[in-house]
Amino acid sequence: MSEDIRERIDSLRQQLRRHDYLYYVQNQPEISDHQYDKLFDELKQLEKQRPDLVTADSPTQRVSGQPIESFTQVRHAIPMLSIDNTYNAEELRAFDTRVRKGLGTEKYDYVVELKIDGVAMSLRYEKGYFVLAATRGNGEVGDDVTANVRTIKSVPLLLNNLKDAPDVMEVRGEVYMPKKSFEKLNKGRENEGELLFANPRNATAGSLKLLDSRIASQRNLSFFAYAAGELSQDLADNHFDTLKKFRDFGLPVNPNVKHAKDIDEVLDFCLGWEDKKKDLDYQIDGMVIKINRYDQREKLGATGRSPRWCISYKFAAEQAETKVNSIAVHVGKSGIITPIANLEPVLLAGTTVKRASLHNFEELARKDVREGDSVMIEKAGEIIPQVIEVLIDKRPRNSKKFQPPKKCPNCGSDVKKDEDGAYIRCTNRDCLGMLREKLIHFAGKGQMDIDQIGPAIIDQLVDNSLVEDFSDFYKLDKNMLLGLERMGEKSASNIIDSIEQSKNRPLWRLLNAIGINHVGAQNARILADRFGSLDTIKKADKEELEAIDQIGPKMAESIYDYFRNDKNLKVIDELLKNGVKPQQQGTKSDNLAGKIIVVTGTLEYFSRDEIKETIANLGGTAASSVSKNTDFVLAGENPGSKIDKARELGVKIIDEKEFLKLIDQPAKKLIKEDKKKELLF
Ligand code: IVH
Repeated sequence: MSEDIRERIDSLRQQLRRHDYLYYVQNQPEISDHQYDKLFDELKQLEKQRPDLVTADSPTQRVSGQPIESFTQVRHAIPMLSIDNTYNAEELRAFDTRVRKGLGTEKYDYVVELKIDGVAMSLRYEKGYFVLAATRGNGEVGDDVTANVRTIKSVPLLLNNLKDAPDVMEVRGEVYMPKKSFEKLNKGRENEGELLFANPRNATAGSLKLLDSRIASQRNLSFFAYAAGELSQDLADNHFDTLKKFRDFGLPVNPNVKHAKDIDEVLDFCLGWEDKKKDLDYQIDGMVIKINRYDQREKLGATGRSPRWCISYKFAAEQAETKVNSIAVHVGKSGIITPIANLEPVLLAGTTVKRASLHNFEELARKDVREGDSVMIEKAGEIIPQVIEVLIDKRPRNSKKFQPPKKCPNCGSDVKKDEDGAYIRCTNRDCLGMLREKLIHFAGKGQMDIDQIGPAIIDQLVDNSLVEDFSDFYKLDKNMLLGLERMGEKSASNIIDSIEQSKNRPLWRLLNAIGINHVGAQNARILADRFGSLDTIKKADKEELEAIDQIGPKMAESIYDYFRNDKNLKVIDELLKNGVKPQQQGTKSDNLAGKIIVVTGTLEYFSRDEIKETIANLGGTAASSVSKNTDFVLAGENPGSKIDKARELGVKIIDEKEFLKLIDQPAKKLIKEDKKKELLF
C-alpha cells in the first residue's frame, strides 16, 4: 500500500512538472485547468497523508508557509556584469567595427535577443535541483530571493534530463511581470487604496522584495533564461547552443532569438522588433547583441563593468515633452481623490495624449508638478501616460506649488488623509462624484456589462436624480429616459434592452459590481465559487471568509461589514426585487470541458479577454499555439498563421457562429471602441 502511494506521488509529480512546462514554458497546454487542479489536489492529499514523502522539489512546495525576516546576501561566484548601450544604427555598427578589430581576421557570428525589461536574476541548480535565486545587487553581491523565485511557475524546481545536469549550473536571466498581470495588480491596488507601481519593472522588483512568498506567488511573475553563470562542466562552446541546452533542461528561453551572420542581419532584426514590440505580452526596452563563440568572447574581454562582446540596442524611449495646462482632481468610486494633469495634447507612441496620471498627492508633491510646468511624459508599458520629470529650467517665474484640496471637488465635504498618508478621501458617503464612479463601475464591462450605459448617460441619470443607487437602473422605463437631453426612441429602447440583458449575469459579476472594498474580479470569482449564492455569502461570518485561502483578514472584514450595512442590504434587496437574478455557480455549463482551444483572428462578439474567460468558464483551456493536442481552432476575421498550422496538423477549424452554437449562447455585441474612449483615459 505505502509503496503504491510512493509511486502515485512520484507519477503525479512527474505529470504536474510536465504540464507546468507545457503551460508556462511552451505555452501549449495539453490538459484543461480543471484537469490540472484535479492532479494537483490529489498530490496535495497524498502528501498530507504522508508528510515524510514531501520533498522541496514537489510542485506543491512552491510557496512557503512563513514569511522571512529579511534577505541574506549572496556573493556571486562570477560577477553579474552590466552592458553598454547603443541608441542607433551608427553606434551599433561602431560596436561591430570594434569587435572586428579585436578579433583580427577571424570570422564571427552574433546572437540577438530581446532585452526583457525586468530584474536580472541568477538561479543556481545543483545536480539539477533548484537551490538558490539571487538578485544582481551591485554585481558582486545580491539578495537571496529564493523563496519568492520558487513561486514562479516557469522556473523549474527540478530540471529535465536530470542525468545530464551538471553538479553546479547557474542560469542567469530576467524575472519579469507580463503587461496583463501588471495592469491587474495595479487595478487591485487602486481598489484597495494602495500606491500604484509605475511600470512592470518596478512591480517585479517590488514583488521580489516581498518578505512573504504567499503574496509573491500571486504576482504572476515569469522568467527567461539568457546566460550561464558558474558551471561545473561546460554545456557548449557557444551561446546559441547553450540556449538550446537550457531549453532541453526545461528552462524558459525566449523564442525570439536570431542567430545572425553579420551586423546587417543584426540590424534588420533589431529594427523589426521596434515595431513588433507592442504585440508582446511583456515589456522589452531594446535588444541585446552577443558574440556567439565563447573563445572569441574571452579574446575580446571586458572594460570595467561591461564586456566588449556584448552590447544593447535601446529603443527610443517613448517619452515626449509637453505642458501641464492644469491639474484636475478626480473622485474615484471609493472616494479616493487623485490628481490628474491636463496636458497640451502631444503625440506619444502613436496616440495623442491629453492627460497624465499623477498617482496621488504625495507623488505630486515629490515631483513638485505645477500648473504651467513643462514636463516629460512617458508611457509605462504602453499603459497610462505619466509625468516622469518636470523641466525646472522652463518653469514660469510666478508658478505656485499645487495644494491638495481640503474639500471634495465634487460635493465640497471635508476630505481625510489615509493612515499611510498616500491617499486623500472624500468623507461624504453620498458624494455624487463617488456615486458616478460607482455606477460606471457597476455598468462596466467586467461587471454587469450594461453595454448601452456609459459615463455620459450616467452623468445625465445622476444629474436628473433618476439613479441614486445600483437598483435604480432596473427601475428605469423608456419614458423616464425620453426626458433626458438628446435621447431618441431608439436609444432609449436600446438602453432598456441592455439593462434587461444584464439581469442574468453570473453571481461573481454582481459581486464585482456592487463595490465591496478590496473585492475585484478575481476575489469575486473565489467567493462565488466557494459560496454559490448571494444568500450564503451574506450570512458568512468572518471566520468562514478568512478560512478561504486567498482571502486575508482585511478583505474578510470588508466583505463581512458590507453585508452588515443596512443601506447595502436594502440596495441588494431592491436589485433582486427588480429582476436581477445572479446565475448560481454549479449551473455553470461545461460544454467545453477538457477542450483545448486556440483562437486566432478578430472575433465579432468577443474581445480577447472575453473569449478566454468564456472558454475557461465552460471548462476549456485557451492555448496560444496550435499543436496536435488542440481540439479545435476558433477562427475569426484575418486569422494568422495558426490556421495554416491547424490545416497542416489536421486540427478542426470552426468559425464564430459554430462556436456560439456549440456553447449554446446567444450572441451579444461588444461595446464599441468610441464608447470606451469616453472613460477617463
Ligand atoms: S545579457 C554580460 N541578455 O539587461 C551580459 N541581458 O542592461 C549579461 N537583460 O542586467 C546580460 N534581457 O538584466 C542579457 N537577453 C538579455 C537580456 C538582458 C534583459 C538585462 C539584464 C542586464 C541588463 C543590462
